Amino acid sequence: MPNLIHRPRRLRRTDTIRRMVRENHVTADDLLYPMFVTMESESREIPSMPGVFRYTLDDLCRTVEKFPAMGLPAIMLFGIPAEKDEVGSGGYAEDGIVPQAIRKLRRVVGDSMLIVPDVCLCEYTSHGHCGVIRDGHVDNDPTLDLLSRTAVCYAEAGADVIAPSDMMDGRIGALRAGLDGAGFSHLPIMAYSAKYASGFYGPFREAADSTPQFGDRRAYQMDPPNRREALREMELDVAEGADILMVKPGLAYLDILRDARERFDLPLAIYNVSGEYSMVKAAARNGWIDEARVVGETLTAFKRAGADIILTYHAVDYLHWMHSSG
Ligand code: PBG
Repeated sequence: MPNLIHRPRRLRRTDTIRRMVRENHVTADDLLYPMFVTMESESREIPSMPGVFRYTLDDLCRTVEKFPAMGLPAIMLFGIPAEKDEVGSGGYAEDGIVPQAIRKLRRVVGDSMLIVPDVCLCEYTSHGHCGVIRDGHVDNDPTLDLLSRTAVCYAEAGADVIAPSDMMDGRIGALRAGLDGAGFSHLPIMAYSAKYASGFYGPFREAADSTPQFGDRRAYQMDPPNRREALREMELDVAEGADILMVKPGLAYLDILRDARERFDLPLAIYNVSGEYSMVKAAARNGWIDEARVVGETLTAFKRAGADIILTYHAVDYLHWMHSSG
């Protein structure tokens, strides 16, 4: 028999001792639940994202009403407008779908939840790109002005945090200036800082009806092989006044989240995106994986890598599982 001094298994023998030495936990406080709201007359489940809906305003309110009791602290909002145009004017219209939803939700949840609108033009442009087009390319600087108008419009409707996802250069500074100038210097910006041009957004584009009609987003979203560049994007966002930094997508980019954790003291968010959700749902429906277990493991990986905030379509499922397993 070997005379072992160190036996790590001693601390794994029972559930009780495992609980006591556990290093990371995912609680309701960590979760931000993304939702879709539409001008269409009926709510509709998104085929590639079972359990995720494009909600009408009324159904959105009925659904969100139950969240404070579950302890969910925040939702993110994406809007699908009735009509799209070249310059995405549905995004910054005062009576647009997202400002309407914010106003209505505020009456339902009061201050018990944060309402966090995603700021981008791609759901509102006829061509599906995240900015205005000139000579076949997304034109950075004129887009900043429209994004800033969108942010102010959402702030006026009562948003709690502004979350720009477009990846234009200089947008954090532009939004900060726009918000401050309109009397919203107290509103935080959660910047999609390291957002990669990813195949994992496929189901979202079906959900938001925002697939680019020509080309792709590689000329503004980041190139997946790059690591140093992600830190540079984050440095710039910090310098321009971001309050929270985000890495997106999640699982394939955990190294970037870890790097960010080591470099920055700001809160960090990670987006467990649509494709990651769809893959889990599909495998679970086939009986190939234990969904609750895999989701728990995934969300914990984000915490372990350094996330403070996890954006996930599994948020509501996760809270149900947490409560039912006592
Ligand atoms: C809008 C936006 C996208 C996502 C969040 N904000 C789509 C995109 O950039 O193509 C993706 C979210 C997901 O896949 O869950 N720019």
